Amino acid sequence: MKAELGRPGAPNPGDLQIAQMVVADIPEVTRIEQLSFSTVWPPNAFYNEIKDNKLAHYFVGRIASRVVAYGGLWVILEDSHITTIAVHPELRGLHLGERILVQLIDEAMERGASWITLEVRESNLTAQNLYTKYGFTMVSTRRGYYSDNNENALVMWAGNLKGEIYRNRLRTLKEELLKR
Ligand SMILES: CC(C)(COP(=O)(O)OP(=O)(O)OC[C@H]1O[C@@H](n2cnc3c(N)ncnc32)[C@H](O)[C@@H]1OP(=O)(O)O)[C@@H](O)C(=O)NCCC(=O)NCCS
Repeated sequence: MKAELGRPGAPNPGDLQIAQMVVADIPEVTRIEQLSFSTVWPPNAFYNEIKDNKLAHYFVGRIASRVVAYGGLWVILEDSHITTIAVHPELRGLHLGERILVQLIDEAMERGASWITLEVRESNLTAQNLYTKYGFTMVSTRRGYYSDNNENALVMWAGNLKGEIYRNRLRTLKEELLKR
């Protein structure tokens, strides 16, 4: 898909529309999931999350009606946890993942979360860079967390979301993102 960018009628990252994930999105989300992760969620996991889990908030990014990115979050009182985030492999590096992450952080803040956390593979430097950009720091390691290769998970965390320093940082990053 990336090769088509710039051609007339081709997908334009600026056209990304973010919306709540609905059941009809699940086949496209599952396809991106399969292209993105070595272990994938069971087929009914997204369905259960968006239909049954009141703590869960899932979003898709669409360009020209096609799902190209998605992400999910749990918010439990002041605690929020990013459960997943992925961009179609052919559209990476175009700040779509960043747009989804901002959506998740905004959602967590709007719902009153004071901190946000996630797990990321030790080898996944791309995702770690993205999270670091948004104020996440590594707080601990879960040894052998990923069962496919026994890889460690880094637990990353951003705290004091309600504080002025974090809000200002987020505002600045969002302004830069909008200019792209
Ligand atoms: C992680 C992922 C969601 C990032 O999405 P993306 O759209 O490709 O990334 P973006 O273009 O929004 O980049 C945002 C930031 O991520 C980091 N980043 C992105 N691509 C990178 C790369 N190739 N190398 C290093 N850092 C990178 C940078 O910090 C970048 O900010 P910058 O451009 O100001 O330097 C995407 O790579 C993906 O879907 N990966 C597979 C699934 C996955 O690993 N999900 C995370 C699970 S914890």
